[in-house]
Amino acid sequence: MIGTNDRLAPNSGRLSRPSAIKTGTEIPVTTLSNLVYRLNEQTIIDNISLRLSEKRIGLVGCNGSGKSTLARLICGLIKPTSGKIIVDGIDVSKDRKSAIEKVGIIFQNPDHQIIFPTVEEEIAFGLSQTGQSDSEARKEARDFLSAFGKGDWRDKPVHALSEGQKHLVCLLSVLAMKPQLIILDEPFSGPDLPTTRRLLRYLESLKEAILLITHDVSFLTGFDRIIWIDAGRILMDGAPEKVLDEFLGTMELRGQSDDFTDFAG
Ligand SMILES: Nc1ncnc2c1ncn2[C@@H]1O[C@H](COP(=O)(O)OP(=O)(O)OP(=O)(O)O)[C@@H](O)[C@H]1O
Ligand SMILES: [Mg+2]
Repeated sequence: MIGTNDRLAPNSGRLSRPSAIKTGTEIPVTTLSNLVYRLNEQTIIDNISLRLSEKRIGLVGCNGSGKSTLARLICGLIKPTSGKIIVDGIDVSKDRKSAIEKVGIIFQNPDHQIIFPTVEEEIAFGLSQTGQSDSEARKEARDFLSAFGKGDWRDKPVHALSEGQKHLVCLLSVLAMKPQLIILDEPFSGPDLPTTRRLLRYLESLKEAILLITHDVSFLTGFDRIIWIDAGRILMDGAPEKVLDEFLGTMELRGQSDDFTDFAG
C-alpha cells in the first residue's frame, strides 16, 4: 500500500492519492430489491436482490450476463422496470443529483463517457454536476489534473488521446467528484501494463467502496466479496476463494465446448 501523501513522480511508476484531494470515507450501504430490467421484451436483469456494504466487491459473469446493465442501474443512469436501488438512503433512479454525488461509474467504453472536447472541460463537467459554478469546476479540474501530474493534459483534445489515456481521463473525471461508491466496468481493458499497475495501486489506496467488473479475476485479489451473475440472475455470491474457484471451473468447462449458444443476447 502506498502512503497517502505520495504524488505521482515522473517515471516513478507510482500513482497514489495526492494529498490535496479530499475524499468521502464512508462505505455506503447499497440495497437492490427485486430488481428487474426489461428491454425490448428481453429480461436483462431478472429479479436481483442484494445488500452491498463491503469495501471491495467484484462482479463477474459471461458476456451478455447483465453486468454493465446492473452497473448502470446502480448509478441511476437507467431506471428499473420494477424494484428499487437505494444507495446510502437515496433512491438513485428518482434523485439523480444526489445519486451523482454518491455513485460514480467508469464505463466499459470511454467513448460512451466522454462528451467534451478537452480534458479540462470533461473533468469540470462532472464537478459542475455536483453544484459547483463553471469557474469553480474548471479551477478544481485544473488542480485535480495537476495533482495527478497531468496538468499538461488540460487543453488536450480528448479525441487526440489514446484509448488508455481516455480511460484514465474517465477515471479521473469520476474520482474528482469524490463519490462514495465507484463502479469500474472493465477499467483495465485500455490502459497499458504500467498504467494498469499504477491504477491498481491507486485504487487499492482509496477508502471509497469499489465495485469492479472484470473478466480478469487476477484483478480481484484481496477483494471482500464476489458476485457472479448469469443471464441476469445471481448464480453465486460470497467469499472470493469460494466463488472464483467455481466460476473459473465453469468458465473452463464452457471454454472446452464448441457450443456458442450459451452466448447471451
Ligand atoms: N442498449 C441495448 N439494447 C438492446 N439490448 C441491450 C442493450 N444493452 C444491453 N443489451 C442486452 O442486455 C444483455 C446484457 O448486456 P450487458 O452489456 O449488461 O452485458 P455484460 O455482462 O456487461 O457483457 P460484457 O461482458 O460483454 O460486457 C445482453 O444480452 C445485451 O444484448
Ligand atoms: Mg459489460
